[in-house]
Amino acid sequence: MFPRTLGVETSCDESSVALLDREGAVEINLLSSQARSHAPFGGVVPELASREHLKALPMLARSVLDGAEEPPELVAVTAGPGLVGALLVGLRFAAALAWATELPLVAVDHLEGHLASPFLSRDGRPARRPGGTVLSLVASGGHSAWYLVRDGRPPFRLGRTRDDAAGETFDKVARVLGIPYPGGPALDHLARLGDPRVVPMPRPRLKDSTADFSFSGLKSAAIRAIRERGLEGAGGDEVPRAVYDLVASFEVAVVDQLLGPLERLAREHRPIAITASGGVAANTLLRERLEVTGRRLGIEVLLPPKELTTDNAAMIAHAGQLAFGRGEVDDPRRLDARPSEKWQPPGMRKV
Ligand code: KG4
Ligand code: ZN
Repeated sequence: MFPRTLGVETSCDESSVALLDREGAVEINLLSSQARSHAPFGGVVPELASREHLKALPMLARSVLDGAEEPPELVAVTAGPGLVGALLVGLRFAAALAWATELPLVAVDHLEGHLASPFLSRDGRPARRPGGTVLSLVASGGHSAWYLVRDGRPPFRLGRTRDDAAGETFDKVARVLGIPYPGGPALDHLARLGDPRVVPMPRPRLKDSTADFSFSGLKSAAIRAIRERGLEGAGGDEVPRAVYDLVASFEVAVVDQLLGPLERLAREHRPIAITASGGVAANTLLRERLEVTGRRLGIEVLLPPKELTTDNAAMIAHAGQLAFGRGEVDDPRRLDARPSEKWQPPGMRKV
């Protein structure tokens, strides 16, 4: 049993408030996207993000509390990593709410939220409790890494990208094709119509002993291939056949990079389940390949419902329930934004 938990997420450009019940089932998950406010600037403007969170949070929290069957018993909020101003708005809001209602509060890591999302459903079912070691990929716009998640313990990072994140790679290639940010979903769509064998793409291999991977060479090669074929800006209306093939070839190389360390890690750590989360976990090919690999290895694959792959407060509330179960609580008067990963192994740089 968990406490009924109100979650608050404001790390980037989505304001979200959610409520999970005592079994970790998602009762309400509300989201207000700022995409339209940032669009004229071609990316997320931090100062604007903070102001938009400030506007959206009271309204979202009011709707969640009014719609709740019973009041929450715990408040969970994202403390980082993310945009510091945006995080501070969420932290202050959650702290004031916890203080005024005399509820305990836990500040959770945004990555811990993504890692918790594959255990959630959107049809009122309780959260899954895997009860063993889980091998977890987080692939989003800012992070790409493999983790080991064990019941009742904080996650441990096994390997990560040496340069760009997977989502960032999708977004940068999309931009050259004239597709607006975030370009990942549009590339997913284009790739379904192309032949992935047409355009050769590099597959840099790091040493076998590491679970790290790299996207910068692949990104440069894809951009070069777009320019050589005169396809800059050709991803909009009346897309030529060559774009479909190029995007399909690029996408399969990204997925190969992400899944490169998987089989070795699975042999080494013998997980009872494999999970993937973060915006890129919505990608059709990545989901298919994970399912196929899981079946071949005889390991269950758990993926979040598509709407819980991108940033949301339901995953933060569940990460809060798990952290609270480990005995974590925070003082609402002493909360601060954490710009980098909390449980990052010493000596590793931020990804
Ligand atoms: O998790 P998320 O919402 O935000 C971060 O915490 O970064 O992930 C957003 C990222 C963007 O880079 C977006 O292009 C990518 O996820 N993305 C996808 C797909 N859907 C979203 N990338 C590939 N295929 C998709 N279907
Ligand atoms: Zn995220």
